[in-house]
Amino acid sequence: MTFPASLHALHDTAVPDRVGDRTSARLADVRSLIARELEEVEAIIAKHIAAGVAPATESANHLFEAGGKRIRPMALLLATECFRPIDTRARELAAAAEIVHMATLLHDDVVDDSDQRRGRPTSRRVWGNAVSVLAGDLLLVEALRLGSRAHPETWSELINTLGRLVDGEVIQLRGRLAVSLDEDTYFQIVRGKTASLFEWALRAGAREGGASASAIDALGAFGGHLGVAFQLVDDVLDYEGDEGTTGKTMLADLHEGKVTLPLLRAAAASPDVAPLVASVRAGDAAAASTLAAKVRASGACDQVRDLARHETASALHKLEAVPSCRARDVLADVARGLTARLA
Ligand code: IPE
Ligand code: IPE
Ligand code: MG
Ligand code: MG
Repeated sequence: MTFPASLHALHDTAVPDRVGDRTSARLADVRSLIARELEEVEAIIAKHIAAGVAPATESANHLFEAGGKRIRPMALLLATECFRPIDTRARELAAAAEIVHMATLLHDDVVDDSDQRRGRPTSRRVWGNAVSVLAGDLLLVEALRLGSRAHPETWSELINTLGRLVDGEVIQLRGRLAVSLDEDTYFQIVRGKTASLFEWALRAGAREGGASASAIDALGAFGGHLGVAFQLVDDVLDYEGDEGTTGKTMLADLHEGKVTLPLLRAAAASPDVAPLVASVRAGDAAAASTLAAKVRASGACDQVRDLARHETASALHKLEAVPSCRARDVLADVARGLTARLA
């Protein structure tokens, strides 16, 4: 899917009778505000992928050309736009945000043994794990190349963000061998593996726009809450989503033995859940469907969606410290839309 098509897809996921007319309208607003900027960001990403060698370049392009929501670069550009018009450096930083994200996806699909991503077979299914890992490395190098040209604080925050991302993934991996996980550890994982990059993107965009230190902090905190909300919804969609819309295999977390918040909440509500998790980990396929049905029937997904709405409310509260402007309103709309997202 080309980028403009991916924006249409973002818009199309907001089917009015499912997520409301306002969501549809707000996503259309994002598209009209920054679609041309995003096309330039796409060109920067394509150029940086091409700096590598085949087959890493083909593997990275396979993921890139499949589209994706491009939510991180979009948020970064809007953060800049809150203060001054988007310039080349902001576009480069937006490209870096998406490049880091794609690197984590290439690595993540190896770590998670995933088969489907962005509606396509994962890169590892097409080129194998070794090429996918190296394609992820290529993207990380290119993101660092872009980041090194940025403001020194944006550069050092990028390095810290990569560290937080890795720590989040490693703590999650550790949890996969444990019988249970506490909610604090779950949120530690989410803040590391997902929220950290959202936070960086918003801070980098704001700094590039010349924002004050307090406005950078406010937008970074907005991004952090948004990232947590985003992952909470992602974890619900693994149980309640639709493969055609998410572009990913359903119940992947459960089959991997990954304990996410819907499962944690279901386990807290019923003593039947923990033994079923053990059976799934031991390879019992029937236990997996019983477990999925129990999680869905437990009301845990609604609880997690409520928590995501709460995180979104915290994100919106942080935005109040940012001067009022159209880009800020659009960021708020994006935040509200993501809580209701289906993809
Ligand atoms: C997927 O991110 C990984 C998570 C943090 C849940 P996205 O849902 O933004 O993936 P794409 O870029 O749209 O494919
Ligand atoms: C995605 O995490 C990768 C990162 C955020 C680093 P997950 O494994 O939870 O997400 P999906 O479901 O594969 O997209
Ligand atoms: Mg995964
Ligand atoms: Mg993962």
